[in-house]
Amino acid sequence: MSDTFDLIVIGAGPGGYECAIRASQLGMSVACVEKRDALGGTCLNVGCIPSKALLHASELFAETDHFEKMGIKVGKPKLDLGAMQNFKQQAIDGNTQGIEFLFKKNKIEWVKGTGTLKGAGEVEVALTEGGTRTLKASDIVLATGSDVAHLPGIDVDEKQIVSSTGALELEKVPGKLVVVGGGVIGLELGSVWNRLGSEVTVVEFLPAILPGMDGEVAKTFQRILKKQKFALKLGSKVTGVEKSGKGLKVSIEPAKGGDAEVLDADVVLVCIGRVAYTEGLGLDKAGVEVDERGRIKVDAHLKTNVDGVHAIGDAIIGPMLAHKAMEEGVVLAERLAGQSPHMNYDVIPGVVYTQPEVASVGKTEEELKEAGIEYRAGKFPFTANGRAKANQQTDGFVKILADKKTDKVLGVHIIGTQAGEMIHEAVTVMEFGGAAEDIARTCHAHPTLSEAVKEAALAVDGRPLHM
Ligand code: FAD
Ligand code: NAI
Repeated sequence: MSDTFDLIVIGAGPGGYECAIRASQLGMSVACVEKRDALGGTCLNVGCIPSKALLHASELFAETDHFEKMGIKVGKPKLDLGAMQNFKQQAIDGNTQGIEFLFKKNKIEWVKGTGTLKGAGEVEVALTEGGTRTLKASDIVLATGSDVAHLPGIDVDEKQIVSSTGALELEKVPGKLVVVGGGVIGLELGSVWNRLGSEVTVVEFLPAILPGMDGEVAKTFQRILKKQKFALKLGSKVTGVEKSGKGLKVSIEPAKGGDAEVLDADVVLVCIGRVAYTEGLGLDKAGVEVDERGRIKVDAHLKTNVDGVHAIGDAIIGPMLAHKAMEEGVVLAERLAGQSPHMNYDVIPGVVYTQPEVASVGKTEEELKEAGIEYRAGKFPFTANGRAKANQQTDGFVKILADKKTDKVLGVHIIGTQAGEMIHEAVTVMEFGGAAEDIARTCHAHPTLSEAVKEAALAVDGRPLHM
């Protein structure tokens, strides 16, 4: 077994594993160092995949409430949480084993253990089975991902006070769940437990949920969440969590100051963001620079300041999204193989997998106003879409923002059932530099929810047909 490779990737999350696969496809010999006992990183083990399995199962569970109006009589559904958790585990295993298969197929060696950079060209691995192994390669990719951000003074025990990891593992539906942070994790995992019967209160520091999201979308989403019986404490901060008997007392205060309030909780989920994870990586000794937030500094070609050392994914600047990490992994592998691929950071979609889903790409209205860019907005509600009406899933709308002079699509924001699938039409058009008129002139199958995208494009020019 050789210890010398063309490429060593540290971390087998979406960024690392896609980089390793693409590099191998391009003829490089590749080792991937991963300390977890399964490949796939945060995303496949404790992130995207398990959360979506629970979102899917809990959505179907809650959906049974609407069966009767469709003429389906099934009685009140009973929850078997153990079986639902098993369903989630199958999703994890199926996906992580899939990556293991792809590694074997592409002859990528999974070196099991913790990798430490020893300078340009060398990685020392503290092997999981004991002992160390020194690997050498002309190029090294740091793809070590991110970890949960902690709230000072609040200790996560992953049982009562949990991060997303513990919230995916609960053995009992909490009576009262307090979620600290109204971002993506809070709303997705809050939705899971809300559907399964928890009373969910979201405490968000800022005046609105999902910071960075188009304001009109966020406002509509808040209204919908309230209908779903979420309690939203906006502009509030948690100042402490104390154990009280079997439960917890959560102290909160208005962010701008004011009277404190105490909330009872069975479980508290802390999800106030994630931070780059570089522990034990040896960046200091190897001389790799990090920024003020601990993220590995890279240039436009994903190179660090040390020759032959590159970094991608959650460990560097940019949205902490699996598909962003994946794109960087592929682009980097191709560059290392001498190709000149380009990554378009302006067209990275974001999806919140709640019901309805929220999906967006490009600029929000707030960003366009701030940048002084003149635009036209076209909006179309799902209440006017035939398919949504037939399914009685009419919450939400599609909004397209296009340059006032050129009609080029600058941003698309969708809140509605299957928004996460519909957004890709907009992503493709934007990647091609297309105009709202291009979408408006494209024949869309009837009856589909996607017709609302076409109608919103028509609305940019003031000529929607069904409104
Ligand atoms: P990671 O996936 O974090 O992988 C890094 C890997 O490196 C880990 O396996 C770690 O064990 C390993 N590692 C670290 N240091 C070392 C070392 N020194 N030696 C060896 N191995 C090491 N994103 C989406 O796009 N869509 C979603 O729906 C979504 N849902 C999410 C839900 C949750 C609950 C969470 C927490 C995150 C979610 N994300 C989602 C974010 C997504 O998981 C991350 O953006 C993505 O995993 C980042 O990929 P990465 O390859 O950079 O790092
Ligand atoms: P987030 O950044 O999405 O949201 C954190 C929220 O907590 C923000 O709204 C912030 O204002 C709030 N906050 C911060 N400090 C607070 C405090 N002291 N008190 C109350 N509120 C506070 O982070 P989140 O939800 O933890 O997710 C982490 C990352 O994981 C995100 O960056 C996201 O990209 C990724 N992710 C993506 C998903 C997806 O694409 N569907 C799903 C889940 C996670």
